[in-house]
Amino acid sequence: MAKNYPFIGVVPPGPNAEKIIAQDARYASTSYIKEYPLVAARGLGAMVEDVDGNRYLDMMAGIAVSSTGYAHPTVVAAATEQLNRFSHMCATDFYYPVFAQLCERLAKLAPGPEPKRVFLTNSGTEAVEGAIKLARSHTKRQYIISFHGSFHGRSMGAISLGSSKVKYRRHFGPLMPGVHHLPYDNPYHPTNWRDAAENLFRERVGEDEIAAVIMEPILGEGGYVIPSRDFLDFWRDFCDEHGAVLIFDEVQSGVGRTGQMFASQALGVTPDITLLAKGLGSGLPIGAIVAKESVMSWGHGSHGSTFGGNPVGCAAALATLDLVEGGLMANAAAMGSLLLAGFNELKKKHDIIGDVRGVGLMIGVEFVKDRKTKEPIVHLVHEIELAAFKKGLLLLGCGRSTIRIAPPLVIDAEDVRIALRIFDEVLTELRVPA
Ligand SMILES: Cc1ncc(COP(=O)(O)O)c(C=O)c1O
Repeated sequence: MAKNYPFIGVVPPGPNAEKIIAQDARYASTSYIKEYPLVAARGLGAMVEDVDGNRYLDMMAGIAVSSTGYAHPTVVAAATEQLNRFSHMCATDFYYPVFAQLCERLAKLAPGPEPKRVFLTNSGTEAVEGAIKLARSHTKRQYIISFHGSFHGRSMGAISLGSSKVKYRRHFGPLMPGVHHLPYDNPYHPTNWRDAAENLFRERVGEDEIAAVIMEPILGEGGYVIPSRDFLDFWRDFCDEHGAVLIFDEVQSGVGRTGQMFASQALGVTPDITLLAKGLGSGLPIGAIVAKESVMSWGHGSHGSTFGGNPVGCAAALATLDLVEGGLMANAAAMGSLLLAGFNELKKKHDIIGDVRGVGLMIGVEFVKDRKTKEPIVHLVHEIELAAFKKGLLLLGCGRSTIRIAPPLVIDAEDVRIALRIFDEVLTELRVPA
């Protein structure tokens, strides 16, 4: 059946959108970004409809969140059923079935032979924050290694770990002490990651003082960068040798997006702690710290959360995991291959595409002024987003000059064709700034 999207009936933002935008601009915090003037009214699968009736193909899923697509009937039914029973009980103090079920499910899904335990959160940031506390209390050490270009959320601990944009940190200090930032491995823009690590341990901190190494196994906000196996193995070996905890922040890469349940499985390196959120609840706010049982042994009452592991979020997460395991993960792998092949074709036609990389439905298309110097075209990504938006395709940038492709995992081959066609049109019509 032919798709009823993309459909642009009125140039966005239309009159209804303009009203909402004006209201938001007047009363909402000035800190919100608002990439482009999309005002959502409803969604279905990979389609988003705005308040003026325009329909878009969504290739960004509300920043890699709507994993099962919008309004998936299985997720809606599970969440509604739970909402009708009860929507809160506080799992820190009491019990309920979906909470225990989700903990068991995630503990059994996480890679590695050792048994796992799970702490459920409201968000990715809260998972990161909890993991810092867990690693410190487990090792009785204070130092944490994190990486240039990384993004771990917006709380004080998380911004202290992050290093992707100065605006996330400017004037918020003093930040959390004890963080050492090192270069990430970027195969397209090689770094001196190994030398920098060796220098750190020779000059500034002992290996045996490190509580944790926290990394995104695929850099998200920082540019959809896939590091080498060497880099991942180096830090796995480091943690094994020196008693530190390896934390993979899979808030963006987890829950089927890479074609495997976790990016760690796609990349073949197993962490001690996995952090999840975003896609886990198909849009309902829920996250998780999934840790080896030997690591998650903190004291009774040492950590908790009023809303973390909320029953409706748990029900949505269980339904999401059923769908992801039941076919969406395989679909992500298949559609990811089609998209990668398509973007590589576009690379032959458009010189400004410097690099195409990806695993499953986590694909980065990086733009450069010149393929030799690999210099970014900083404002181009925003122009591409806007031009695509006006043609009914939702995109989102990341890094300095990269478009991230992170659609709902339900997209099909027709969606892939539509996305590639509009992407091609946008690049063909674009006037690249000198
Ligand atoms: C890798 C990673 N970690 C943590 C976070 C923070 O998650 P949240 O916005 O749910 O707090 C994000 C959000 O973009 C993320 O991409």
